[in-house]
Amino acid sequence: MTQNRNVPFFNYPQVYLNDKENLMKIFDDIGSRGAFIMQKDLEIFENNLATFTGSKFAIGVGNATDGLELSWMAIGLKKGDEVICCSHTMLATASAIKTAGGTPVPVELGDDGLIDPDAIEDAINSRTVGIMPTQLNGRTCDMDRIMNIANKQNLYVVEDAAQALGSRFKGKHAGTFGNASAISFFPAKVLGSLGDGGGVITNDPYYFDKIYQLHDHGRDINGEVKSWGRNSRLDNLQAAILNHNLESYQNVIDRRRQIASIYQEQLSDLNELELPPAPDADPNHYDIYQNYELQADRRDELKKFLADNNIGTLIQWGGKGVHQWEGLGFNVKLPKVERFFERCIMIPMNMFISDDDVNYICEKIRLFYRG
Ligand SMILES: Cc1ncc(COP(=O)(O)O)c(C=O)c1O
Repeated sequence: MTQNRNVPFFNYPQVYLNDKENLMKIFDDIGSRGAFIMQKDLEIFENNLATFTGSKFAIGVGNATDGLELSWMAIGLKKGDEVICCSHTMLATASAIKTAGGTPVPVELGDDGLIDPDAIEDAINSRTVGIMPTQLNGRTCDMDRIMNIANKQNLYVVEDAAQALGSRFKGKHAGTFGNASAISFFPAKVLGSLGDGGGVITNDPYYFDKIYQLHDHGRDINGEVKSWGRNSRLDNLQAAILNHNLESYQNVIDRRRQIASIYQEQLSDLNELELPPAPDADPNHYDIYQNYELQADRRDELKKFLADNNIGTLIQWGGKGVHQWEGLGFNVKLPKVERFFERCIMIPMNMFISDDDVNYICEKIRLFYRG
């Protein structure tokens, strides 16, 4: 029996406190150089990001939501153009389509919690121009199927890879399959900064050029104004922090995969739970476990029981799929997504929990179901 303890879902102060000395050095260096906007740390980070993902180009942007929106703006959505996305995603996926001028069409999820390729096919009509899969919880969709559909139907693909830096399908990185994609560096992300931050990656020089202009007042990489744009640049300070965090990134992924293995080992016999795929369950997938989201019988009671035992949990995005927010005007029923949101719960998955914390969480979950 593990001693009682307190395991918050995520510990924001630790993002700073855990690495305070190095971060202070970075603040001092950037501050002393006055290197705040579009300086060499950003350029280095963009190169690092492109190299790490195996993509030709990377652009630091203000946040992933902007990156997704700018990607669709670069493609050029017109009024009435439909883009298919999963309803089991953050609102940002759908809102990026909307704010870029298109119409988001949320569809069902498959058994793995990711967008269902069959549902994509069913939703295609004469207005469809694109697909926006979300590489959710650090897992990449079956991109063979999605790219086959897109190629056959001549559709654009922008990947929402906000949660998936380093995740791979058949060895290829999330974010490198479609026309462009965006990654988030929100502080709780696997690669987090100390504020908002995002990156766009693309292999296409045309989209690189367009998105680059859009993110910096219409200026191209030589500073020449070529078009209308706006300001959505990644701060140089955040870029410097991200360069630093990228140095230990593989260790971070390894640790997350190890935590997922412990959860798998200790919880997989409980048939009241459906766990996410284990790290080595499918050789086609390399998951980075941005989140550990499971489905649970009596979910709300479990959440309360864990809270009473000082274990933090989270129900993603306020407990609703995109199409379920009445204010957004969708008029569609997606039973699998709705059922998922009645049962889903995320348990702690981060760099601040010890093996003892993980064991404690598993012990309490077992106690809840088995007494
Ligand atoms: C799936 C998904 N898409 C988009 C975003 C938006 O990222 P950002 O906060 O960097 O705009 C997030 C962030 O949480 C996300 O999880």
